[in-house]
Amino acid sequence: MKVLVIGSGGREHAIVWKLAQSPHITKMWCAPGNTGIGKELVKGSPVECVNIGAEDLEKLLQFAREQKPDLTVVGPDNPLAMGIVDLFQQHNLLIWGPNKKAAQFESSKAFSQQFMEKYGIPSPKGAVFTDFQLASRYAASFGGRCAIKADGLALGKGVIVSKDMEVADKAIEDMLVKRAFGKAGEKIVVQELLNGIEISLHALCDGKTALLFPTSQDHKPAYDNDKGPNTGGMGTYCPTPFLDKAGLLEAKRTIIDRWLRGCNEERIDYRGIIYPGVMLTKDGIKVLEFNARFGDPETQVYLYLLENDLLELLMACLDGTLNKHQLKWKSGAAVCVIMASGGYPGSYQKGKVISGITEAEMDINVKVFNAGTALNGDKFITNGGRVLGVTAYAETLQKACDAAYAAVDKIKFEGAHFRRDIAAKALKIL
Ligand code: AMP
Ligand code: GLY
Repeated sequence: MKVLVIGSGGREHAIVWKLAQSPHITKMWCAPGNTGIGKELVKGSPVECVNIGAEDLEKLLQFAREQKPDLTVVGPDNPLAMGIVDLFQQHNLLIWGPNKKAAQFESSKAFSQQFMEKYGIPSPKGAVFTDFQLASRYAASFGGRCAIKADGLALGKGVIVSKDMEVADKAIEDMLVKRAFGKAGEKIVVQELLNGIEISLHALCDGKTALLFPTSQDHKPAYDNDKGPNTGGMGTYCPTPFLDKAGLLEAKRTIIDRWLRGCNEERIDYRGIIYPGVMLTKDGIKVLEFNARFGDPETQVYLYLLENDLLELLMACLDGTLNKHQLKWKSGAAVCVIMASGGYPGSYQKGKVISGITEAEMDINVKVFNAGTALNGDKFITNGGRVLGVTAYAETLQKACDAAYAAVDKIKFEGAHFRRDIAAKALKIL
């Protein structure tokens, strides 16, 4: 089969790397891809990076009509929200990911909030508003302790966590009155503020069956001990010790099964992966948000541990045959440490020479996924905020963590910034 992957981050590098191991695949393109992706081999030939942006739907369609991939796999949220799946389907092109209606779980927080209430999915108390006064009064009912969320996609910046009315009113005003997020903030969701450990759930879905992954945990704040501004994610590990087998079954029953029943009732044909971000509170597990795609950097650890042929699973999502598959995971654990450019998530410089990737990958249980890299001659240089996802596998979480940091310590670029405490919360209780 010939496969086109859409996206350019560490998540897409992990997807391409894993797909490249499938004996079914003879050729792979990635649009736009990145330097690391272009070095992956399929049957001895490099994956071809195609210079078309992930949001340039017309050009992607034109490319697919000309090159005729047997399957297109979508990584990021924006093309899904823009309706790339519907567009490709209209042209009889096989594409993996939720259609536009299904992608609303991520592209509209108001839609998700109302859906969770309707189908009894445990979630924070919340309501949808378009009016400043009403939203402010609702926030006041929580004493200002609330999360204020722009309805639409806002580059990961559309959520303000507030602990008093001053912050709450400012956030509501910024979104609803000043339109800080444009159309994405025409509607907002105000939710009670919850406390607890946050983890990521992922489940593949074919519209009828959902297969839940083990839990993973992202580290969103930029600095150790969860200090500093929020980022796209500074590191992950899998599995976490926070949900045991019974807890995972409970999550399947109260979140995934109810969600799937709701999808069926609402005639949402969800084929792809659903990624609920959840919080473990003293009143049980609650969904903070849904994402309609693989997490980044969760994918890097998941696909390192997944033993199944990824292509077969993706095809099963489209064929409606996921019930014939069982997910198989390597025993042990994987850890991914993100190495970012100095200054990220604020402004940062690009073009710093990266050394040590080959040395880091001398350990056969280490893989360095590229996110923001480019080539300058034959040298790897930095080309984005999140630069590398240094991922290691071992039979225990402690050993995986040690191997990941040993690899990180071999990689150098000016201003490199990473957290030293990925998986520390888990190691403390294990
Ligand atoms: P979201 O994009 O909805 O997951 O929100 C981004 C981040 O805001 C989450 O990862 C949480 O850390 C925080 N957050 C969102 N909603 C809540 C809530 N209701 N209570 C506490 N923290 C929240
Ligand atoms: N892990 C954060 C995200 O993918 O949104």
